[in-house]
Amino acid sequence: MPPSDPTPHRSASLRVDAGRLVRRLNELGAIGAVHGPNGEHGCARLALTDADRDGRELVVTWMRDLGLSVSIDAIGNVVATRAGTNPNVAPVMIGSHIDTVRTGGRFDGNLGVLGGLEVIETLQQHGIETDHAIQVAFFTDEEGARFAPDMLGSLVYVGGLALEQALDARAADDGARLGDELVRIGYAGSTPCPTASSPSSFIELHIEQGPVLEEAGVTIGVVTGVQGISWTEVTITGRSAHAGTTPMRLRRDPLFAAAAIATEARRLAGDMGGTQVATVGRFEVFPNLVNVIPQSVTFTIDVRNTDDALLRRAEQHLLQFVEQICTQESCTLQMRTMARFEPVSFDESMINRVERVATAHGNSTLRLPSGAGHDAQMLARVCPTSMIFVPSVNGLSHNIAEFTESADIEAGANVLLHVVLELAKPS
Ligand code: GLV
Ligand code: MN
Ligand code: MN
Repeated sequence: MPPSDPTPHRSASLRVDAGRLVRRLNELGAIGAVHGPNGEHGCARLALTDADRDGRELVVTWMRDLGLSVSIDAIGNVVATRAGTNPNVAPVMIGSHIDTVRTGGRFDGNLGVLGGLEVIETLQQHGIETDHAIQVAFFTDEEGARFAPDMLGSLVYVGGLALEQALDARAADDGARLGDELVRIGYAGSTPCPTASSPSSFIELHIEQGPVLEEAGVTIGVVTGVQGISWTEVTITGRSAHAGTTPMRLRRDPLFAAAAIATEARRLAGDMGGTQVATVGRFEVFPNLVNVIPQSVTFTIDVRNTDDALLRRAEQHLLQFVEQICTQESCTLQMRTMARFEPVSFDESMINRVERVATAHGNSTLRLPSGAGHDAQMLARVCPTSMIFVPSVNGLSHNIAEFTESADIEAGANVLLHVVLELAKPS
């Protein structure tokens, strides 16, 4: 039978237990919980913090409770394996992340991991064995909010970044070394990373994090790829001086330059249109006092586009602008690339499979590229990969109000279940 054909089997009518999945999302979401004034329930579990450790412990407990064998690798990626009946075929891997941004939600990443556990538990309950082993993975530091680049754990896993370099990454908040933090929280594992053997395929269930599915009234997003991502850290140094006595003509003000750059990034993205986006998200002013012209400003620029040529054009324009405004303001400039990933196209047969399974289970579908970065874009380097999106209420994510309806979680998890069943082949 050709690999794209569905496998007729008694498992065709199998369904996940959505209540159990939502309970797990809420239980994991209680770790590092952040509550808002209007009932919002978000999460702060920055990578390799105590809260991340506590979240890891809970998920690993669930993995062990399901009888899975759990491995932890040298960058702290956790992979749980349910054995298959054919030891000669590589595992099907389901994965995502459980770290969050500081003002994140309960669903980003967590849904992909706990959705994977729900698939396993559903198979266990129904006594369904598969030829391929099934793995559920969570990768270290997907968000990149504390340690750049984003998708760091999955990037090291596929050999895209040297382990030693990743272990030497420094935290944006407190300067801690990633390798030391891994040891501190007990997740510097003994399994070699990069992995010695790739999965046979990789699939990630994720919330969309944007408005496309909701606006279209569609339940399942069939993800065609991930747009290119460019992160740069900029430090501009001027001369701190008295705010009252320094004439405007004598100022070397790095904050004036940085503010102009932030404004230009926004203007540029608006004028370019299409998928071009640009964000200045971190901004640190020294000494940050009312009556002192700043000495230095450090900030980040995040630019993304589905088209790498356009992304390069945006990067070049902004670089020229940064250099020009710094010269004009007599400031010095330091720039550091934090992350640079080209757009990724997922495997056509995996995309078709997600679409066919989603449709067969009565869901409306829409093909779309991902605006956010994902571990799947790294796994796509080593095996056929795709993603399943479910709608985000109000298109909101990286916000404590991030929410996805339980019915959509259920629909997405059932698509995940049946895609995995096809790939892993019931024995
Ligand atoms: C990761 O979540 C990113 O897209 O920044
Ligand atoms: Mn995510
Ligand atoms: Mn995220």
